[in-house]
Amino acid sequence: MNDPSIRHEIAHLARVELYTPNPDGTLWFFTELLGMYETHRAGQSVYLRGYEDPYQWSIKVTEAPRAGMGHAALRTSSAEALERRAASLKDSPLAGKWSDGDFGFGQTYEFASPDGHNLSLVWEVEKYQAPPELRSKILTRPSKRPLKGLPVKRIDHLNLMASDVTAVKETMERHLGFQTRERVVDGNVEIGAWMSTNLLGHEVACMRDTLGERGRFHHVAMYYGIPQHNIDAAEIFREYDIEIEAGPDKHGITQGSFLYVFEPGGNRIELFADAGILQFEPDYETRTWQMADIDTGLAIGGAHLPWETYFTYGTPSKRTLEEHKAEFATAGPPPPPTH
Ligand SMILES: [Fe+2]
Repeated sequence: MNDPSIRHEIAHLARVELYTPNPDGTLWFFTELLGMYETHRAGQSVYLRGYEDPYQWSIKVTEAPRAGMGHAALRTSSAEALERRAASLKDSPLAGKWSDGDFGFGQTYEFASPDGHNLSLVWEVEKYQAPPELRSKILTRPSKRPLKGLPVKRIDHLNLMASDVTAVKETMERHLGFQTRERVVDGNVEIGAWMSTNLLGHEVACMRDTLGERGRFHHVAMYYGIPQHNIDAAEIFREYDIEIEAGPDKHGITQGSFLYVFEPGGNRIELFADAGILQFEPDYETRTWQMADIDTGLAIGGAHLPWETYFTYGTPSKRTLEEHKAEFATAGPPPPPTH
């Protein structure tokens, strides 16, 4: 249930940790092609930020046996809001635990979605302070635009796959104050939900895992803000052998301009080329897409979102991306989910 009384308790998506079996390749992708700054290293992890990310990092790349999402963290709007949201979760079957935090972030409440995604809430942050050589002349910009690749500005949104979209959606609404802006239904089954607590059309999305697996990661989106950048980025990805899955095109759902690629570790990354629809109405009512209109919802320009990857591949995956595609080619579409 959308609950406006807690709508602004969550401020925004602050960070995502990605697991990668190919840390050198993943780091090359984020730093050389997407122009992200490295701010810290610890253990098997490297911390990265876009030039307009406000904190010490927005993406953490951690070496691991398989690709996937380590966790995603949302920043609350105050210390009190963090306490209230943690208390709400503590009184539910999703109760988590407090941790001391990570580099650049303070005390954190960690919990899992009903599907098993690792999520966190945090208030205390260390704002990024650029050294003199990286200080921007533009006062709203925390650091200079780098001269590397086609640099992304900041993290934008997160998309999760789930065996049960409704359960994840209701958790985000009930405990964290998210409003579901758009959803897709197939008959009586909710197969997608796009949710936000602020002006952005969505900051967290959830789509049905058509293989029926639980707790997988679909993509994290990095923000350009200029549609031409997605066309330029596609050229760079083509030249440097980064696999493009779909785009550039524009979704009907969220009105976001997209380009989906696979980073060398196997995670799907979206380049988000404009903000999509912004939402100012306090009493906005959720829009529901039916399958009859899904072509418009998926891609206004008609780009093909491949069934063999976009709707079936998430991380972690039992198979590498190549194995997944090969299996799909020989075995055909997977059986429908059993739940
Ligand atoms: Fe997205």
